[in-house]
Amino acid sequence: MSALAEKVARIDPTLDLYDEIDRLRQERNAVILAHYYQESHIQDLADFIGDSLQLAQAARDTEADVILFCGVHFMAETAKILNPDRVVVIPDLKAGCSLADACPADALARYKALHPDHVVVSYINCTAATKAQSDWICTSSNAKRVIEAIPADQPIIFAPDRNLGAYLMRETGRDMLLWQGTCIVHETFSERKLIELKARRPDALVIAHPECEPSLLNYADHIGSTSSLLKFTQRSDARAFIVATEPGIIHQMEKADPTKEYIPLPGQDETCACNECPFMRLNTLEKMYLALRDLEPRIEMDEALRLAAKRPLERMLSLG
Ligand code: 13P
Ligand code: SF4
Repeated sequence: MSALAEKVARIDPTLDLYDEIDRLRQERNAVILAHYYQESHIQDLADFIGDSLQLAQAARDTEADVILFCGVHFMAETAKILNPDRVVVIPDLKAGCSLADACPADALARYKALHPDHVVVSYINCTAATKAQSDWICTSSNAKRVIEAIPADQPIIFAPDRNLGAYLMRETGRDMLLWQGTCIVHETFSERKLIELKARRPDALVIAHPECEPSLLNYADHIGSTSSLLKFTQRSDARAFIVATEPGIIHQMEKADPTKEYIPLPGQDETCACNECPFMRLNTLEKMYLALRDLEPRIEMDEALRLAAKRPLERMLSLG
């Protein structure tokens, strides 16, 4: 049993964790930030819910002494890069991301050396060390704007998501060298399942995150970040949507308009929950309580690395 699992097992079962988290949040002057892929009850407890860009902005702007980041490690790391003096805790340090894992900083450094005339644009889903090797950071909300801010004759390496990169190449007409990383959740969606679902529900619009494979994006009526998908369901006249992203986002869609129908696109194997991000889902109420109680696990970072990672991140944030 891991040390964290042992701590969870030792929590007094008579405690009301909702009350405890609220009490500790006040005592610690803490803010709880949560990504749209968190489970519904975690979203409902959060002070702020958002996509990666909104969460980075909220982390930048907070006055709280402690940030409890309910998302994955690279998101909490981003909060620490922007807030060196605040305590940043995460419910479970093992909440990683397959895209961040796909692009180690040393491998990116070697690739850059082979293409010295290129600038590097990295998707925010990467480690601080990989950010430090980048010229720009982008999120799925602002990626197009970031690419368009770079002079048209400047060659670009785009890392680590090859699907978001291919989508941006189509959208901007720019040729880019693409790192070959993928999201293990979005790559599980199959074209065949989507065609079957569309045949059964011709009334439903398809909304998809750009981390999906290009073959799937071809069917989408709307492509965008989690916040963009949410906004689209609110302003569209359609009554039903096939949702090709992590189904955690459906909670906010249902809250915003419960009269509409949101149909999660299943993974290839319908018997598994592989359309759910296994990293995001490591976070639980128990671990949130422990993180606020013990102020650990904390995100700590070497100052030279933090400053190097901050530069491309601030360049992105300065775009607004
Ligand atoms: P968003 O920035 O669109 O919320 O995406 C984050 C993410 O990890 C998607 O898999
Ligand atoms: Fe990473 Fe994919 Fe999970 Fe997003 S859904 S955190 S990209 S593994």
